[in-house]
Amino acid sequence: MERNLGMDLVRATEAAALRSGRWMGRGDKQGADQAAVDAMRMALNSVPMNGIVVIGEGEKDEAPMLYIGERVGNGEGEEIDVAVDPVEGTTLLAEGMPGAIAIVAVAERHSFYNWRGIPYMDKLAVGERAKGVIDINAPVAYNIRAVARTLNKQVEDVTVVVLDRPRHKDLIRQIREIGARIKLIPHGDVSAGIMTSIENPPADILMGIGGAPEAVLTAAALKCLGGEIQCKVWPRNDEERARLAELGIDPKQVLTTRDLVRGENVVVAATGITSGEFLRGVEYFGGGARTHSVVMRSRSGTVRYIDATHRWDKLMRISDMPYVH
Ligand code: FBP
Repeated sequence: MERNLGMDLVRATEAAALRSGRWMGRGDKQGADQAAVDAMRMALNSVPMNGIVVIGEGEKDEAPMLYIGERVGNGEGEEIDVAVDPVEGTTLLAEGMPGAIAIVAVAERHSFYNWRGIPYMDKLAVGERAKGVIDINAPVAYNIRAVARTLNKQVEDVTVVVLDRPRHKDLIRQIREIGARIKLIPHGDVSAGIMTSIENPPADILMGIGGAPEAVLTAAALKCLGGEIQCKVWPRNDEERARLAELGIDPKQVLTTRDLVRGENVVVAATGITSGEFLRGVEYFGGGARTHSVVMRSRSGTVRYIDATHRWDKLMRISDMPYVH
């Protein structure tokens, strides 16, 4: 992992966004996801790395591509962990709503938390300025006040982003009670978590229960951006509780940014598919398209935003685009 793979990885997220962006609003989540997976996988396989998918589309028997354990890259160099979500927010894309992104992260081997099939985690994430003041075991009001204090804001000016789900009824009530602002989102808590850590952050805190693989991707990005995430696995039923017991996982254990991403050399690339507050979506014009991406690296702390113009006449037809530059 001596080589900076950022620019290679962003080609993969661009490819996923360009290909799947064409599925916007077509009401076909599976078609949109498949388009992104195909493009992402093809592009990843030309990246000079020896990657192993740790966070991917699922187990081998349910996901023919980008499954957990699949090798990606051209096989060069030491083995590294790959976490990938070709479309984070498939419903957003299928319904033509804002905020779908393509994202990939890599780090040294055995860096990414193995979520072992328990699909949900309770999450609390903040940007760099509020790092160190939060505690997922503390009451909601405590965390909001602590963040307000450290950001030098009134509690009423703090924005909390929460997935709009019935399971968050009580969380939302508590946030409203203390008087903070709420941004309810239909999907996409990776972008929401990252949003707390970008410049002029559209939200100060992410709270609530969302996907476990998404927590690892969020942690990878926050590690690069200097933010913090704390999580706890969130079993939905007795079956998942029994599975946790079997695996020896304590649902009370707090997983920190470092537990979710152990490596110190983390690279994350993401491209907007539909426009959101984090990244602009793909803009198609006659003869090509523009993409908006970000590449970040924990070791150097660099964050690069990349506007790219892609011209179809310089590529193969987009329908069979392996995405060659
Ligand atoms: P997908 O892209 O896999 O559809 O995930 C979207 C998402 O909203 C995530 O951002 C979030 O972590 C998770 O789903 C929440 O799950 P659920 O919709 O079951 O509450």
